[in-house]
Amino acid sequence: MRLQDKVAIVTGGGAGIGEAIAKKFAREGAKVVVCGFPEDPVADVARAIQEEGGTAIEFTGDISLEANAKSCVELAVKQYGKLDILINNAGVFPTTSMLQDYPTEAFDYMLRHNITSTFMMSRAALPELHKTQGNIVSAGSEAGLIGIAENTPYGGTKGFNHAFMRGLAVEQAQFGVRCNCVCPGPIDTAWTHKETGPMDSEMEKTMVQATPLGRRGTPEEVANVYAFLASDEASFVTGALYFVDGGITVAKGPVGDKVPAKLKKEPEGELNPEHKLDGHAQIREEHQ
Ligand SMILES: NC(=O)c1ccc[n+]([C@@H]2O[C@H](COP(=O)([O-])OP(=O)(O)OC[C@H]3O[C@@H](n4cnc5c(N)ncnc54)[C@H](O)[C@@H]3O)[C@@H](O)[C@H]2O)c1
Repeated sequence: MRLQDKVAIVTGGGAGIGEAIAKKFAREGAKVVVCGFPEDPVADVARAIQEEGGTAIEFTGDISLEANAKSCVELAVKQYGKLDILINNAGVFPTTSMLQDYPTEAFDYMLRHNITSTFMMSRAALPELHKTQGNIVSAGSEAGLIGIAENTPYGGTKGFNHAFMRGLAVEQAQFGVRCNCVCPGPIDTAWTHKETGPMDSEMEKTMVQATPLGRRGTPEEVANVYAFLASDEASFVTGALYFVDGGITVAKGPVGDKVPAKLKKEPEGELNPEHKLDGHAQIREEHQ
């Protein structure tokens, strides 16, 4: 119960890594606002948390819009009396392409949902986090640290989050607010499967080969690190970029091929995410 009585907002909490974070935080005792687009299964996630005795409500809205970001924070405070933790996990990965062919609408879409959403939510949450000496953890990525062909604009948006969180860590420490980033490598969500995301089979294969642990990580393995960073156990951690990447960021070559099949099995975990392959990987007109 590392997050006992803490109030947390988890953006992008209806699917993938965000669903696992919401469920993990609830198991650790937090009251959770599960936030997502109106068509995201955030109500399902909140209900699943309640059914196992946890506390959660849903918020639906595009939080890259200032009014929605404010409403999300207001809901947390109205419902649970305060805000201790903001998890900026929401993000999009609409396409892969060489830059000369990269669609400008995909670029704009990522600026909005990977960058503006983090800015708006952080700005709206800070006055409440000052009252609780709370903290923010945002989603970075291996793609924001190393060069990945055909992923360049996406990596750029994640590099923004790294710099943004480091800057926030420095300026907000005087209010007792910690700010960190989790940088996942290839994670087993909709984004990293050719059937449900923009990667082709070659990308899928080389991504796993380049990962020393020889497999994708699970959303739960990422959620575990979010829980640590958001908890008081991480009270001296701020401005950190935490890699949860199976080693891909520090590796060279197809080192994953050396891992025997029996060690490539993903751990089953305990959280039973129901929407891990339902992610938001295409451009949707209503969110352009
Ligand atoms: N999956 C990976 O391999 C991987 C690797 C590195 C980093 N990440 C980061 O982790 C985060 C989660 O990725 P995932 O694979 O779980 O994705 P996902 O698509 O499964 O979940 C993301 C959720 O965020 C929601 N969302 C996006 N923009 C929103 C907005 N403006 N308002 C409300 N909801 C919004 C989406 O609808 C979706 O439900 C992202 O920020 C991503 O950049 C993922």
